[in-house]
Amino acid sequence: MDGNGRWAQARGLPRTEGHRRGVEALRRTVRAASDLGVSYLTIFSFSTENWRRPAMEVSFLLALFKRFVRNDLAELHASNVRVRMIGDRDGTPADIRELIDQAEALTRDNTALTLIIAFNYGARDEIMRATNRLLADRLAKGDDTPVTAAEISACLDTGDFPDPDLVIRTSGEVRLSNFLMWQAAYSELVFTPVLWPDFDHGALESAIAEFRMRDRRFGGLAQKSV
Ligand code: IPE
Ligand code: MG
Repeated sequence: MDGNGRWAQARGLPRTEGHRRGVEALRRTVRAASDLGVSYLTIFSFSTENWRRPAMEVSFLLALFKRFVRNDLAELHASNVRVRMIGDRDGTPADIRELIDQAEALTRDNTALTLIIAFNYGARDEIMRATNRLLADRLAKGDDTPVTAAEISACLDTGDFPDPDLVIRTSGEVRLSNFLMWQAAYSELVFTPVLWPDFDHGALESAIAEFRMRDRRFGGLAQKSV
């Protein structure tokens, strides 16, 4: 969800206004994903690296996140959305962790869209935590067998979820920025110049249309060549 700062700057507004409008884009996008029949939507909300921003901006982002969960949880639940978090829970401020726990508990049996909130998330951090869990488990059992890719996948924060088919990066940046680096190995990447506060149903629909044009081979050969 990139481009909030630039959206605000272009209008002579403070960066915080861009973040505020970004929450509206998030609401629109969750609704659009539900309408378009998406099963899993992962939003990169706050990264393990975002703590490097000025303290004022970090505290604004944390407050905005809390307000979003408090204000929108009832509607998400009513829309049959299941909320889940990925990221370093232990390093997340306790009040935010509690809100996320509540959101997950309330919506656990919902069956429409799964909204995965990547909060205090970084792919390298996630892979490191998974590795240490596997290592501790191996050591406890005196097990010296090699770790498999399937075990790593299952041990990641996303262990319950399928790999993403499509990763959308807004604001014209062309990189993954530590997002789902293991899981996105064969994801289709769509880069759009749209700044996140302007993202909407149409932008999601056109990213999905672009995805549908792609020929996915997963390292194999195209169907017609076989
Ligand atoms: C994304 O917008 C919001 C977060 C990373 C939390 P930015 O704040 O990165 O916006 P730009 O990149 O400065 O435009
Ligand atoms: Mg940015």
